[in-house]
Amino acid sequence: MTASAGRHIVVLTGAGISKESGLSTFRDADGIWAEVRIEDVATPDAFARDPAGVHQFYNTRRRRLAGGDIRPNAAHVALANLERAWPANVTVVTQNIDDLHERAGSRNLVHMHGELLKVRCSACGAVVPCTDSVGTEELCGECGTKGAIRPHVVWFGEMPLELDRIDAALDACATFVSIGTSGNVYPAAGFVDRVRSRSHVHAVELNLEPSEGAGRFGETVYGPATEVVPAFVARLLGALG
Ligand code: APR
Repeated sequence: MTASAGRHIVVLTGAGISKESGLSTFRDADGIWAEVRIEDVATPDAFARDPAGVHQFYNTRRRRLAGGDIRPNAAHVALANLERAWPANVTVVTQNIDDLHERAGSRNLVHMHGELLKVRCSACGAVVPCTDSVGTEELCGECGTKGAIRPHVVWFGEMPLELDRIDAALDACATFVSIGTSGNVYPAAGFVDRVRSRSHVHAVELNLEPSEGAGRFGETVYGPATEVVPAFVARLLGALG
């Protein structure tokens, strides 16, 4: 363990951290992309071609997330505890569109791929909370435009959110921890290379199995997130003395 007290930490999370809360990953054998095709539900073209079908895909996931059965797990809670106890900044950058990090208590949080429990008006840009289904004829409460409401998620071919804030956090961190992501989707998959260009940064992968970029990390720990993340956080906090 080379992370030292008083140094900033960036944690990148992916679908694997929410798997034990009951949410599917994308690229595992039982993942979402084994059931539906990316090009049918997760691109601007898909939404232009079949807005009702795309809404239905997100409506189903949104209702489930808001329904009360999905709760943060020990890994989300451990990261929130780390943020509270660590004597420097802990920034969680998540690719996940669920709200489990914030429900666990994380506050310094970036949703780079958007948020399932929000929708956005393509006409005026308003972003509003939403826990229910959305249809193609929806009226925007801000500008009144009909049919311009879309999920507030980043589709393939679109720019992730808050990249400037993420870049600043990556450039300032002494420890980078990647949790539950397969390392297939950029720019997130390239964060480890960005931090590695500064030789003193300690890069750690916590995942069920080695990701695409596993060889680029200085430390790797494999196992379920609910076990390896609390153990890793306990080790970091224990080193504070
Ligand atoms: N604990 C830890 N890791 C797990 C667990 C678990 N219980 N279960 C699965 N994993 C790991 C898998 O081994 C895999 O490496 O989580 C990773 C999930 O990878 P993906 O399904 O590819 O998810 P992610 O990396 O978050 O996908 C990135 O792709 O489709 C887009 O926008 C979507 O944000 C998503 C992005």
